[in-house]
Amino acid sequence: MPGQSGGKAGIVPTGEAAKPAGSFELTIIIPTFNERENVRPLIEILSANLTDVTWEAIFVDDDSPDGTAAHVRGLMAEFPNIRCIHRIGRRGLSSACVEGMLASASPYLAVIDGDLQHDLSVLPLMFHTLKRDQLEIVVGSRYVDGGGTGDWARSRVRISGLATRMGSKLLRTPLKDPMSGYFILSRDLLDRTVRRLTGRGFKILLDIFLSSDRTVRFAEIPYTMRSRVRGDSKLDALVVWEFAMLLLDKLVGRFIPIRFIMFVTVGTIGAAGHIAVLGLMTRFLDYPFLVGQSVATAVAMTINFFLNNLLTQRDRKIRGWRLLSGLASFYLACSIGGAVSVVLADFLFGNGIPWWLAGVLGAVVGAVWNFAITSSFTWQRGALRPQAGGPRPTQVTG
Ligand code: GDD
Ligand code: MN
Repeated sequence: MPGQSGGKAGIVPTGEAAKPAGSFELTIIIPTFNERENVRPLIEILSANLTDVTWEAIFVDDDSPDGTAAHVRGLMAEFPNIRCIHRIGRRGLSSACVEGMLASASPYLAVIDGDLQHDLSVLPLMFHTLKRDQLEIVVGSRYVDGGGTGDWARSRVRISGLATRMGSKLLRTPLKDPMSGYFILSRDLLDRTVRRLTGRGFKILLDIFLSSDRTVRFAEIPYTMRSRVRGDSKLDALVVWEFAMLLLDKLVGRFIPIRFIMFVTVGTIGAAGHIAVLGLMTRFLDYPFLVGQSVATAVAMTINFFLNNLLTQRDRKIRGWRLLSGLASFYLACSIGGAVSVVLADFLFGNGIPWWLAGVLGAVVGAVWNFAITSSFTWQRGALRPQAGGPRPTQVTG
């Protein structure tokens, strides 16, 4: 079975491969963010390994600054079985995988990383195991016998181990590598889980398992993770935050919208800032309560805007100079909630409620109002507008 190395062998000949989209047995979805240099080697390795199945690859790129999407489009003439979904104004590994899977008509769907860290020489075995045993999903697994994390940094192994234990607690199946981003699933499994997916963050596999209303028939095939040769891992503190939100969504998301939980978490941080400024203004600087509450409300709004943009609305994050117009629209959208907060707090304080409790109660009332308004005003508006100076919006190409 051909190995991981590239090479021209197995390149799909143009005549035979010029099959129309929708006539492949296997679609491989590759989420990319700044993977330009890995695209061609990846296609060549796939071609060298998948010689007995008709396949296509869909790169789902989130407007990578390195021009990954344009590079994929430029390779379509040479490799007619590759496509590109160029997403603008939204980010996220899981949502990219979901959109890629939904753009395919194939009965089988594979998800792989675009950085050559997955050992693609086991992909054929994963595919044939899925079909032969009539399973719903086969996972490339680092944590079954024969698998491994290669020379992955020890800190990453520890994070992965912790996340694996947390994910396994929620799962009702003995899946050893729920953090894997390397798997093949049947279209039936996608169809019956897609509408329940959280679809945020990095861990689409865990999301699929936790979105199934019945036990998933699966197998794990060992592989050893390779070192990344080009580019950098996108895993950061925010991905860890989104992983926590994924778990929370699976635990309580049926009852409370996850975005609201994130908004309240951020609001609590904003409220702490609010109380600190209110205390400073009224207790130490002796300003009237109304002035203190007004300044504290403005400070809390500013904290909330930047934290929400970073966390709650990360998939629709506003960047660059548009932050100023975003902040202005946030102030505008929150102005009524802010006014309600100030008037209510001043009324409560004037009727004997302690300054800090009056401040918090006013802030809470304002927060609920602001969540409802800003989710559809500030971030919804910005999400569909291309980044300033960026390419025109493009959806599925080729
Ligand atoms: N479209 C899109 N949008 N792709 C993304 C994004 C994003 O926001 N973030 C990361 N990717 C792509 C990367 O370009 C890469 O192809 C793949 O997703 C994995 O990202 P890495 O940044 O390389 O992840 P890692 O090296 O930390 O690997 C961990 O996560 C992977 C994905 O779940 C490990 O747990 C791997 O086992 C796992 O496959
Ligand atoms: Mn990687």
